[in-house]
Amino acid sequence: MAKQRVLSGIQPSGNLTIGNYLGALRQWVAEQDTYECYFCIVDLHAITLPQDPAALRAKTREVAALYVAAGLDPERVTIFVQSHVSAHAELSWLLTCLTPLGWLYRMTQFKDKSAKQQQESVGAGLLNYPTLMAADILLYQAHAVPVGDDQRQHLEFTRDLAQRFNSMFGETFVIPQAMIPKAGARIMGLDNPTAKMSKSETSDYHAIYLLDTPAVVKKKLMRAVTDSYGEIRFSSDEDRAGVNNLLTIYQALTGQTNDEIEAHFAGRGYGDLKKAVVEQVNDRLQPLQDTYNRLMNEAGYLDRILAQGAERAEAVAEKTLQTVRERMGFVARPV
Ligand code: TRP
Repeated sequence: MAKQRVLSGIQPSGNLTIGNYLGALRQWVAEQDTYECYFCIVDLHAITLPQDPAALRAKTREVAALYVAAGLDPERVTIFVQSHVSAHAELSWLLTCLTPLGWLYRMTQFKDKSAKQQQESVGAGLLNYPTLMAADILLYQAHAVPVGDDQRQHLEFTRDLAQRFNSMFGETFVIPQAMIPKAGARIMGLDNPTAKMSKSETSDYHAIYLLDTPAVVKKKLMRAVTDSYGEIRFSSDEDRAGVNNLLTIYQALTGQTNDEIEAHFAGRGYGDLKKAVVEQVNDRLQPLQDTYNRLMNEAGYLDRILAQGAERAEAVAEKTLQTVRERMGFVARPV
């Protein structure tokens, strides 16, 4: 039986964090044999907010290299840059024309991101973000989409749009499922443990980046917000969110149970907990950074991976797009 397909992507805006690793990349690595996987670097999504061209170029390559450094095997999975496969932009337009404006206006991400700007100056791309994401997923007929909880609404939108297309033009798209990791892998901001750790937060003590040096990791973690209870245990209380977050990171890295971890830290202070987390994080990041540096220094390596990825992705995407064009009534280009 053919393997089911998985597709996911990360925007090349900001620096990838330990939250991206524990909540996404690590899951992707675990799925690479079970599914036929497509992982893209969604640069067309990144430009829905202003990007500096040189930074966008550098970050796109950096994220691609981090995919590999985190353990994705470019021979077994397809790693590609979204803008290299023009079918994404094209299907996005076709879907845009089938999308009721009301569906777009009610998206919480659009409301949040546009609220931070002047209404009139918000780019139309921000409103259309979900149709581009739907195109990413539907082009590959993905069955499953591993994403964080914050992307649930985008997945619902994609399913609704796929169903709408199928009922208007005939069965064309696989209806995808969100694949949301169980609680535990949700890493919060170190300086604000009630908000998800974000790669686009500008504060220096918010996130651990995958390319942070050991000294920087230590400095950030030692400053992480805790509380005054002085008790090391897992908790869903808001005022214990900082300690819970440190424990969650520790658990994600060691694989130990809540009981084992609480027993290990019984009677000890937050300083000890922080030091233990520093050690675990640095132990995990070091081999990842070594691989990253090695492959960034190997001339042509990343280009070869991205060329091969784009070629494989394009073959699949073009096939779907061809069907969509025919079903919608476009005249085939005479050969
Ligand atoms: N919107 C996703 C995020 O911010 C990124 C994304 C774009 C994506 N296209 C996708 C995720 C397709 C999964 C599948 O996290």
